[in-house]
Amino acid sequence: ISDKLLKYKGTVLTLEPSYDITPEYIDSIQDFETRDDDVFVVTFPKSGTVWTQRIITLIYEEDFPEKAKQITFEQMPWIEYREKGKDYSTRPSPRLFCSHLLEPLMPKTLKRKGKVIYVMRNPKDVMVSYFHFSQKMKDLDSAKSYDEVLENFLTGCMVGGSWFDHVKGWVTSKDKYNILILTYEEMIKDLRSVIVKICKFVGKNLSDAAIDKVVERATFKQMKVDPVANYESLPVDIIDQPKGAFMRKGTVGDWRNSLTVAQSECVDRALEERMKDVPLNLVWD
Ligand code: PPS
Repeated sequence: ISDKLLKYKGTVLTLEPSYDITPEYIDSIQDFETRDDDVFVVTFPKSGTVWTQRIITLIYEEDFPEKAKQITFEQMPWIEYREKGKDYSTRPSPRLFCSHLLEPLMPKTLKRKGKVIYVMRNPKDVMVSYFHFSQKMKDLDSAKSYDEVLENFLTGCMVGGSWFDHVKGWVTSKDKYNILILTYEEMIKDLRSVIVKICKFVGKNLSDAAIDKVVERATFKQMKVDPVANYESLPVDIIDQPKGAFMRKGTVGDWRNSLTVAQSECVDRALEERMKDVPLNLVWD
């Protein structure tokens, strides 16, 4: 694994210097005391994290002071990327978090207190999105080919760890959590219905007009030109901003333009072998 990454208990994180990325901190997350009104968006990287994060922060917009509204990370940080000197336990409710962590590494009390929104995406599109992401992120080694991405995907040597363990772990534990499972593909197909579903799940009663506004602001077109959604406040040593790091293409099936038939079949075989016990219809076009 690259020396730019930390692999610990199956998860893989980027070693960004402004965050507390240590095994001790990751272990301490399991003892983090959740609250009933906490919401955690959990994903394997490149599955629609920032999109879902944006939807939730728009749904909760009135709960944030004006200053925080400008910085997504202030409203909804990744729990495993804790900014140095910050204490997430004292954040005022409602606390919103994202996470790429595997199920066993999450706060233990989340099974009783708080809600999880788990978003999955066709792993082939995840691979293509990751390939492009790795070219833009300064703290990742740029992938040189799709064969390299495929190899890292199959061995779990990419940010997030093993896609298979991630999805399997969360989906097979779904009955232990108050969880809403979504797919990137259904968000693309009918964004409004998904936003209505999320509002219902988190207990936010928005008017039809307010929901329309969230839908409008969460479209790819709008998010691409929205400085908050684009993380324009992130320092240039983390990301090459002018290239638009998070909003790339935003489509379903882009893998067909990038993966070879052999690479695609290799993923199909791995899915068949490694996901056969997963109690969910994991079929992607
Ligand atoms: S990360 O780095 O793990 O947080 O990345 P993540 O946000 O999970 O995934 C990035 C992909 O999500 C796409 N995206 C969107 N698609 C459609 N509509 C909207 N509004 C939207 N916002 C983000 C983004 O473009 C990345 O996918 P690709 O395929 O690379 O375009």
